[in-house]
Amino acid sequence: MSSLNNALLAVTFLVVAGSATLLMFYLWGFPYDHKRNRSDAPHSLIVVHRLLGYVFVAIYVYLMIQMVPRMWTYQIELPARTVIHLAIGFTIGAILVAKIVVVRFFKHMEAKLAPLLGTALFVCTVVLMGLALPFVFREYLLRSQAMSGETFSGESLQRVREHLPKAGLSDSVFLNELASPEGLMAGREVLMGRCTQCHDLRTVLARPRTPAVWRETVRRMANRSTVLQAIDEREQWQVTAYLVAISPTLQQTLRQRRSLELDAAQSQSAVLKAVKMVDDAQYAKTTPYEPRAAKVLFESRCAQCHKLAQVDKSPPRTIDEVSALVTRMVQNGLAAEENELAQIIWYLRTTYVHDPLRTAATSQPDTIVSDLDTIVMRPAGDELRFEQTEISVRAGTTVTLMLENISTQMPHNVTILRSDSDVDAVTAAALHAADLGYVPEHPAIVASTGSADPGARKQVTFTVPSAGEYPYLCLIPGHSLTMRGTLRVRDPGPGAR
Ligand code: HEC
Ligand code: HEC
Repeated sequence: MSSLNNALLAVTFLVVAGSATLLMFYLWGFPYDHKRNRSDAPHSLIVVHRLLGYVFVAIYVYLMIQMVPRMWTYQIELPARTVIHLAIGFTIGAILVAKIVVVRFFKHMEAKLAPLLGTALFVCTVVLMGLALPFVFREYLLRSQAMSGETFSGESLQRVREHLPKAGLSDSVFLNELASPEGLMAGREVLMGRCTQCHDLRTVLARPRTPAVWRETVRRMANRSTVLQAIDEREQWQVTAYLVAISPTLQQTLRQRRSLELDAAQSQSAVLKAVKMVDDAQYAKTTPYEPRAAKVLFESRCAQCHKLAQVDKSPPRTIDEVSALVTRMVQNGLAAEENELAQIIWYLRTTYVHDPLRTAATSQPDTIVSDLDTIVMRPAGDELRFEQTEISVRAGTTVTLMLENISTQMPHNVTILRSDSDVDAVTAAALHAADLGYVPEHPAIVASTGSADPGARKQVTFTVPSAGEYPYLCLIPGHSLTMRGTLRVRDPGPGAR
């Protein structure tokens, strides 16, 4: 059903309800003969009132047939507006039944109840339409804008003409029909009407797809659709044509979102650099920061969006929490130079963290593994860190690295990189590698277990590279900041085979 028809029907519904109510008020002004249960009102007007009633019931039944099956098949939570809409819709049904029953079978109650029920019907109708009409008109407006907009430009029509045959459409007459503004409009109707039965539009429009994949997806969805609201072959091609036409717009939107994700990666790497500045200074036992100046900086930067009390309420307890907190604030919009971030991190560590020096400096005894040994790595439960922050192996040996992902919530991977300076590039590349479980193909990756779902195991066997220190981390976005460690590779030494 087109949105204009919808709007006209809704307005008719309202007008019918209004005139029936006014007429009813007028009719009840006439004396009522309680013995005969009859009014002295003119018979013709009573007939008109009854006819209006029938029209009202007919439109009501039609609208409900449109709505109720949707509720049945919808597979995500219904929006609040729809719930209220439906509730009032059912109320109108209940009142209608009550009114018809009273007028038909319980004449003795008619005088008391009928005017009351009639008025209630009118009130419910007004509320219902008040909820629905603005949206119906907005949809109508959007539709007429779309008619003249980019979607129907010569370029998108050309796209449809060129790509649909490749996706399997052989009927050239039908193709010409689809590659026209009217054809795309029909596709949009199918999208709005049929494709929103089980999920919202976002599911459909999340990302662009190739014409062949659109065709396949639409066919798959059509196979699931119910007999009641089937999507036939013709409608399938219409919606496919429309989706093919709007794919360039979807691509633009996705590109904007990706660049936001890239911003997030950049803020993460800025904080990483600041953390490194602080660590380096502390290892070298030089503290280039002056406590009072750092406090002033903290107070001016961290009080821009909320009170400083926020920090006292949920203070960071470990140095990793400090890093994670500052990263989150940078993502929230905190702007500061790396040097300033370093001072703030240093201030937060010395103020809130009990043991502000990285304990990794006092390294634990090395575990040297020999040929073909398997190193089992685990995340620390559901926390964003590995149980092991250091592993030692001998150069040139063959080692199997197994990730036993005991987390109940998150996927993880263990990925060994060539050097610390590759971390930024690889974590940025990971953002674009959702399809690969966020483990991109990158020359700086020495070995990776690949991502293991919660509860799963993944392993990789690799030849240990030459002596040195190699960082390992989890490349799932947001994990690498705290989920990392160092692979120390020793020279083979005399004991090696
Ligand atoms: C009968 C219910 C139903 C209808 C009607 C329906 N879908 Fe779906 N759709 C689903 C379900 C369930 C999923 C999630 C499971 C899946 O991916 O198969 C889904 C997922 C999707 C996805 C994301 C998953 C993927 O395959 O990439 C897209 C895109 C999609 N639907 C498009 C459409 C389009 C376009 C239409 C209209 C032609 C449509 N849907 C109509 C039930 C439906
Ligand atoms: C651009 C605005 C902005 C700035 C600047 C900012 N914050 Fe926040 N902060 C937020 C927002 C938004 C939230 C709530 C969402 C969240 O927790 O990420 C928040 C929440 C917090 C919380 C509570 C987190 C929790 O787990 O409950 C703490 C602590 C905090 N900020 C500390 C800081 C510190 C320290 C700084 C300075 C380094 C800072 N904020 C600077 C926007 C900001």
